[in-house]
Amino acid sequence: MSHSTCRALLVVSLLALCTACGHSRKRSGVHGGPMGHLELLTYGRELYDLRCLPCHGPHGKGDGPAAAALQPKPRNYADKAWQDSVTDQRISQAIVDGGKGVGKSQLMPPQSDLRDDPEAVKAIVTMVRSFRPK
Ligand code: HEC
Repeated sequence: MSHSTCRALLVVSLLALCTACGHSRKRSGVHGGPMGHLELLTYGRELYDLRCLPCHGPHGKGDGPAAAALQPKPRNYADKAWQDSVTDQRISQAIVDGGKGVGKSQLMPPQSDLRDDPEAVKAIVTMVRSFRPK
């Protein structure tokens, strides 16, 4: 195994550990209803910082601290053409099933614990969409 592959695997397994202990309690909006846009964004930011930022970066540009060790590089969400080409459905699937769920690299880890938490997935999708350049 090459040195960089080895480092990438280490990063991925460390992240898997982090997300395992950062397991989210299910949340809903004020009064138990569905979350509004702002609530989704706030919740999405929290989940993103914990689960996605290390690879996708603070501004979604695919340049997080772990990205250097990864090949292919994490998706840059600030890419307008990509934002326009991808559906919310596909982003949700990439989140829950990881790269291999959408025919991409396995270096993109699945968030299997969110499978039964559509509100959390929606919050992360909202966050990913917020990186689209105007
Ligand atoms: C360990 C690093 C890592 C983490 C953590 C990670 N990703 Fe990724 N992600 C990647 C890599 C690498 C790719 C590129 C895969 C490819 O191009 O084959 C990718 C690709 C994607 C894509 C593009 C899929 C497509 O159809 O083009 C989306 C969407 C995505 N990630 C969302 C997320 C979200 C949201 C999170 C947090 C819940 C997250 N990723 C966490 C590494 C990561």
